[in-house]
Amino acid sequence: MVEASKVDLLIVNAGQLVTCAGKRGRPKVGEAMLDLGVIERGAVAVAGERIVAVGKSGELEREVELAPDVRVVDAGGRLVMPGFVDPHTHLVFAGSREHELELKLSGVPYLEILARGGGILSTVRATREASLEELVAIGLKYAEEMLRQGTTTAEAKSGYGLNTEDEIKQLEAVREIDARHPIDLVPTFLGAHAVPEEYAGRGDEFVDLILEDMLPAVRERGLAEFCDVFCEEGVFSVEQSRRVLERAGELGFGLKIHADEIKPLGGAELAAEVGATSADHLLAVSDRGIAELAARGVVAVLLPGTTFNLRERHYAPARKMLERGVAVALASDFNPGSCPTNSLELIMTIACLYLEMRPAEVINALTINAAHAIGRGHMIGSLEPGKQADIVIFDAPNYEYLCYRFGTNLVYKVIKRGQIVVEQ
Ligand code: NIG
Ligand code: FE
Repeated sequence: MVEASKVDLLIVNAGQLVTCAGKRGRPKVGEAMLDLGVIERGAVAVAGERIVAVGKSGELEREVELAPDVRVVDAGGRLVMPGFVDPHTHLVFAGSREHELELKLSGVPYLEILARGGGILSTVRATREASLEELVAIGLKYAEEMLRQGTTTAEAKSGYGLNTEDEIKQLEAVREIDARHPIDLVPTFLGAHAVPEEYAGRGDEFVDLILEDMLPAVRERGLAEFCDVFCEEGVFSVEQSRRVLERAGELGFGLKIHADEIKPLGGAELAAEVGATSADHLLAVSDRGIAELAARGVVAVLLPGTTFNLRERHYAPARKMLERGVAVALASDFNPGSCPTNSLELIMTIACLYLEMRPAEVINALTINAAHAIGRGHMIGSLEPGKQADIVIFDAPNYEYLCYRFGTNLVYKVIKRGQIVVEQ
């Protein structure tokens, strides 16, 4: 696409312009997490799909070349930020699991519901029955919910097909939604999400199927950038997870892992060993695991909405990870079971209150570090010249207000690739 050179969209009068700018090419760690690159009374200039300049309102307008038909958006003192990046979602699924709420309240644990053939496996049954068109229609609805809440890019996993044909169907749905909706989706193959009923008690054989059939088929069709595995007691062991990730690495996939969510199996150590882009969940991560994530530059994607919804007592040790130099990102984990929300504003509040992350850390974790968790740190996640113009205006006077309010969508406008796609 030919880039416009003259500014055709100008956002002025931001109460605070949160740029999230930092060292190029790397996620933020330590003290840098507290730096949001805030410009008071800020402005952003956009040409075509890209940001060409950021600066002070009143000055920037004079420094750039404006197209004759430039559209000027007056933020009216509101908060302007990079679009949220949600680096861990299970966006495409059929059905829903509200009937598990009563079971959960009567004390049946998440893994027990799965072991009884419910949980993930009930969504697998519904997803296998759905046609590609039905999955696309459902996913488009959720993608629209997300965009309206300020998410401009999201990762989207398969993992409710659990056979070659239905995993491919799910990933084709992701591709179709990405093509038809303004939100950008980054596809991840998660064939190793659960052992399907027809392979009950034969987990190793199911892993063989993933290695020999699913991974090459997904690769051949170019349907996924990343490969993920649910490494958990009773699901996939460390050894099985290693087999999947090593093969995926050989085939050129980026690697992700659902690690140390419920039991401390050593998923973080495995992520470091195989050179994963991210390790996600990490409630039960060991000290050694934390050290290895920091040393190898694996992004820790924390999912506190899931901890909240599963009513786990202990949240991931976010403070310890931050203090020890791990690059921390946050995500929704949007899925029909363990976390049926796609509101990143809600995740912000939970992250502040229960992960004890500070508002600035939370915002970096949902923008620039989230972008790095899906290999997009060079394109999105901050408001800097050259980056994609994915921008959200919130009806908030400052960034702390976003973390403090919850349960209300504060989005005022969303700009995706330079186009206004949501207007309140
Ligand atoms: O990240 N942990 C495994 N996968 C999802 C849950 C999926 C589901 O319950 O349907 C998660 O929490
Ligand atoms: Fe997940």
